Amino acid sequence: MLSVATPEGFLLECRLMSMFLPGQRLHLVDKKGRHYALTLKAGAVFEHSGETLSHDDLIGKPDGTMVQLSRGKKMIAVYPTLGEYTLKMPRGAQVLYPKDLAMILVWADIFPGARVFEAGVGSGALTLALLRAVGEGGQVVGFETRDEFARTAMKNIERYLGGIPSQLTVLNRDAYEGIALGDRPEAMPFDRVVLDLPEPWRVVPHAVSALRLGGIFLSFVPTIPQVMHTVEALERSRAFALIHTFETLSRSWNIQGRSVRPDLRMIGHSGFLTVARRVEKLDSDAQDLESNAEGEEDAEQGWVRETRTGEGPNDSRR
Ligand SMILES: C[S@@+](CC[C@H](N)C(=O)[O-])C[C@H]1O[C@@H](n2cnc3c(N)ncnc32)[C@H](O)[C@@H]1O
Repeated sequence: MLSVATPEGFLLECRLMSMFLPGQRLHLVDKKGRHYALTLKAGAVFEHSGETLSHDDLIGKPDGTMVQLSRGKKMIAVYPTLGEYTLKMPRGAQVLYPKDLAMILVWADIFPGARVFEAGVGSGALTLALLRAVGEGGQVVGFETRDEFARTAMKNIERYLGGIPSQLTVLNRDAYEGIALGDRPEAMPFDRVVLDLPEPWRVVPHAVSALRLGGIFLSFVPTIPQVMHTVEALERSRAFALIHTFETLSRSWNIQGRSVRPDLRMIGHSGFLTVARRVEKLDSDAQDLESNAEGEEDAEQGWVRETRTGEGPNDSRR
């Protein structure tokens, strides 16, 4: 859990004790698994489909409590997980889905203590996930061009964590113009650059100087032309290798008696992740070999475009 440099830091401690207190965000979940978000306030009333529940009936109760609304409907009151919270929090910009947040943390290899550059901050869903992963010793520096989105993001972060962690800096800046951090030089060079904005290829030249050798670049974009521009920019820089693009399909299943089948609905598409490793500048020979490879999966030539091992037919888990 992060330490919080604000008076509201006490909220986190209450969270550790798993007891609902005023000011906290919780979810009420009905029998069908639908979530309803509320911020606890003494004297306030939750209303749903003509039924009510006094917030006072929740204050002081433990996480996971079953509550009954005025006409008998039962719901479970829980602290939302980070994924649940991000799906219900107020949005400025479109948030990343939990399936992509999870993949970003692993493929960008966000570790405790990491110094991470993020753009754009949007509604703060990815920022929250990054903050959690870098922990107390890490740093997240986020650029966001739209002030109103940055403000929404800060509110979302504050509401979930009980304050704004000292590890976070959000600046109203344009990542296409550079990743200069005059006022926060201790974060440079970054271990990771993580982008969720429309033209990540325009950040690639800045990422070359902002990332340490061995650092990781990751971008999320919804369309393939955006992926193509990004990969071209990474290759053109000659400073990135092990470039790898993929998407994540997550399909949940219905398990009820004999009705064991995939759910009828799923998120068919969100976007593509492109991951690359900052390396010593590749010489032109290496670059030529790569451009001749034309996508052939030859591991000896696989510096630029990564050939994944352990995922093919020889994988012993298959
Ligand atoms: C899809 S949203 C990011 C959502 C965010 N990842 C989240 O999970 O809440 C994209 C954001 O990038 C911001 N943006 C676009 N161009 C930018 C730039 N050049 N520099 C910084 N932010 C930018 C937009 O204002 C928008 O808020």
